[in-house]
Amino acid sequence: MTLANQTVIVVGGGSGIGLGIARAAWKDGAKVVIVGRSQEKLDQAAVAIGDRERIQTSVADATDESQVKTLLESVGSFDHLLCTAVSAAYQPVREFEIDDARRTLDSKLIGPLLLVKHGVDRIRPGGSFTFTGGIAADRPGPRGSIVAAANAGLVGFVRALALEIAPIRVNLISPGWVDTPVWDTISGGNKAALFEQMAGRLPVGRIGAPEDIAQAALYLMGNTFTTGETLHVDGGQRLI
Ligand SMILES: NC(=O)c1ccc[n+]([C@@H]2O[C@H](COP(=O)([O-])OP(=O)(O)OC[C@H]3O[C@@H](n4cnc5c(N)ncnc54)[C@H](OP(=O)(O)O)[C@@H]3O)[C@@H](O)[C@H]2O)c1
Repeated sequence: MTLANQTVIVVGGGSGIGLGIARAAWKDGAKVVIVGRSQEKLDQAAVAIGDRERIQTSVADATDESQVKTLLESVGSFDHLLCTAVSAAYQPVREFEIDDARRTLDSKLIGPLLLVKHGVDRIRPGGSFTFTGGIAADRPGPRGSIVAAANAGLVGFVRALALEIAPIRVNLISPGWVDTPVWDTISGGNKAALFEQMAGRLPVGRIGAPEDIAQAALYLMGNTFTTGETLHVDGGQRLI
């Protein structure tokens, strides 16, 4: 087990891709700390991962600096931190509610900044940060200007930090469409039809699962020669 005796923090680990990553890290022997804003959701996720041994839950809002500071003080030293937190607003630009746009940028960009700011001096040698961008950076969807901007911004963010905080490694995963709870809200009740249509267009012929992204996360944690990278795990969506 490559992650045995290592501590892996997954901010956003209460559902979707984050839960998939936490489960994979736990199966690989890590102690996992899953973080989100709802204790109830985290408790359910902990049960879904496995027995409670090596699983810790922590309620914190990644966009709130004092909560991030308290979280990381309470965890202490750790090996890897991954963040999948998102609060995404899709709106036409002429009507964009600026508070919603700020919420999107806070969740995708400011959260990671705070996590590095307060986590960088607690990370053990060989450790890494992994953040989550997305296909919208390369294939923006309707009403998706701010999500596209956040995802594209993260590409530069990890490249800059990979230099600034070296030798700690900093990487980005850019998922394509993955079947997670986020689609219950953004699909407008049309998830099955949208997925069928996209699966038919993708070279791989299917929508992604959290496990597909979790495999990429394990690679980025384990490969000590990879930093500043954006790893696309999108079923070939950038080719269509
Ligand atoms: N699913 C896809 O098709 C897809 C495609 C491209 C990119 N992505 C990206 O992949 C990442 C994960 O998405 P997902 O589909 O797994 O979404 P998800 O199922 O909604 O998971 C996001 C998790 O983050 C937590 N969270 C949200 N805001 C937070 C905050 N401020 N502080 C702490 N935790 C917070 C949520 O829990 P609480 O609300 O309880 O805090 C939730 O458990 C996101 O960056 C998303 O943009 C996803």
